[in-house]
Amino acid sequence: MELRIVCLPGDGIGPEVVAAAERVLTRVAERFGHRLLVERHDFAGASWDRTGEAFPDAVRAACAAAPAILLGAVGDPRHDRLPQAERPERALLELRRMLGAYANLRPVRVDTVLPHSPFRPEAIEGADLLIVRELTGGIYYGEPRGIRGEGRNRVGVNTLRYDVAEIERIARVAFRAAGRRRGLVCSVDKANVLESSALWREVVASLAGEFPNVTLDHMYVDRAAMELVRDPRQFDVILTGNMFGDILSDEAAILAGSLGLLPSASVGDGGGLYEPVHGSAPDIVGQGIANPLAAISSAAMMLDLTFGLEEEARAVEAAVRACLRGDRLPRDLGGDASTEEIAGRVLDAL
Ligand code: NAD
Ligand code: IPM
Ligand code: MN
Repeated sequence: MELRIVCLPGDGIGPEVVAAAERVLTRVAERFGHRLLVERHDFAGASWDRTGEAFPDAVRAACAAAPAILLGAVGDPRHDRLPQAERPERALLELRRMLGAYANLRPVRVDTVLPHSPFRPEAIEGADLLIVRELTGGIYYGEPRGIRGEGRNRVGVNTLRYDVAEIERIARVAFRAAGRRRGLVCSVDKANVLESSALWREVVASLAGEFPNVTLDHMYVDRAAMELVRDPRQFDVILTGNMFGDILSDEAAILAGSLGLLPSASVGDGGGLYEPVHGSAPDIVGQGIANPLAAISSAAMMLDLTFGLEEEARAVEAAVRACLRGDRLPRDLGGDASTEEIAGRVLDAL
């Protein structure tokens, strides 16, 4: 079949890891007899540098028309002083909103506990959880927002809001996912303090009856952060809002081994957006040592969820696991293999 994708390498290590993922997709297409058509665009900081706009209209149009988008990372310290509305990160928020990609799926599997892990293997081995993070609402988008006033009288304001429809649609994604997994949803909120969370909890609970094979639990986010490292195997699907999901997924990445391993898929009304959970890693950019496995696993999620190519996706996942069991690891996992070498290992395993 035809695999038409838009690639947005973005900033920092984004281009390095997306190039590796593209090599893997090219190999998959060869091996399974598909036609890969890649359209590449500057995005976020990279686009701002070239055009003065982080998300130009032509790129918006290309993304809106794409069945799937593979994104590297956004964010560059050189742009940190720009007003919020012009920052590279805002381009990513606009892209997610434009696509209606309200469900961010972040799977975390602990297959092999690598020697460099800060965890005892027996405490985390076999953990297998899916964070279902609401992605187009909550405090990231709520109005009013901004910094008002002058000098010492300035006030910074953001608004955390969720309406019933937003909660229902993300909760259904989590319930359905749990139905295909171990049948547990843990909804994470701060309902003891926040009204938006009290409504979240009420609405999620009201849907549980539609999914008789799924057990629903609720947990406050502070406790969830603790339970995630104390006993991660208790979790199957974690359902949570935009900001809590952002924070908990970086924490969960260390269960798997590193941020360089965690993929994500953002799905909803339109085309799928696939991106590693990590950022642009300015501290290692240009050194050729970024771990490409999160980007490669994100491409596997794309094969599965957008193109329905389950066998191809499983083949890429197996190749990633084989690479992790091998004798050469990237630097974030305690080795010294380069981005190229790790991508080469995955290609060999394919
Ligand atoms: P980060 O995820 O970029 O990096 C955190 C740490 O993890 C760094 O030490 C980095 O070197 C390491 N790391 C991350 N990915 C790695 C990989 N693939 N291989 C090896 N090591 C890796 O987070 P940060 O430093 O807080 O943010 C840097 C920039 O990235 C900021 O501009 C931020 O806004 C942006 N950001 C973007 C995204 C995204 O595009 N989805 C996500 C998070 C942060
Ligand atoms: C992520 C990132 C983004 C987020 C930023 C860069 C906007 O941290 O995808 O996890 O907070 O959603
Ligand atoms: Mn994040």
